[in-house]
Amino acid sequence: MAFDTQAINKSRQNLTDYDEIWLFGYGSLIYKVDFEFIASEYAYITGFSRRFWQGSHDHRGTPEYPGRVLTLTPSSGERCFGRAFKVNHEVFEHLDHREKNGYLRHEIPIHLSDNRTVKGLIYLASPDNAAYLGEASIKDIATQIFNSSGPSGLNRDYVYELAAALREQDEVDEHVFEIEKTLVAMD
Ligand code: BEZ
Repeated sequence: MAFDTQAINKSRQNLTDYDEIWLFGYGSLIYKVDFEFIASEYAYITGFSRRFWQGSHDHRGTPEYPGRVLTLTPSSGERCFGRAFKVNHEVFEHLDHREKNGYLRHEIPIHLSDNRTVKGLIYLASPDNAAYLGEASIKDIATQIFNSSGPSGLNRDYVYELAAALREQDEVDEHVFEIEKTLVAMD
């Protein structure tokens, strides 16, 4: 699959059909909210875990030296905590462009903090996309992140900002916190 997923996202889902759209953020969407939203709540999805397994050529790295950013991997019985946003379909023009490096929108049930479950969307980078890097040891992931930067800044700041945002909502993510700890030791 090509690097730029904007056209695929546009053709896969007709968002004007939705009465309301909930978007679940598990990575930079939690702390970099550069889009308008109608409502926002802490939320979780089931069956997935966050992993720094996606290459970043356009935000936290370059084509020559890609950084590592998050995607979700199927993980039976797991909950991934994040933040849900109720949005208008227009925001996807912006977000599809922002997240064009291999991410496709998928439908998923989102569990909101008031116990409601709503149909929503996530951006997911699957192993068949051209920017996918896949699994590596904590040390190797942290080393790549430590040495990477791109137009959006240092790759390690992506990790630090996400870890701080998770702490603020009292969530623990062992993968994220392990990478953070390893990065801090290198700094
Ligand atoms: C998110 O924060 O949900 C997100 C992560 C990676 C790409 C797009 C969105």
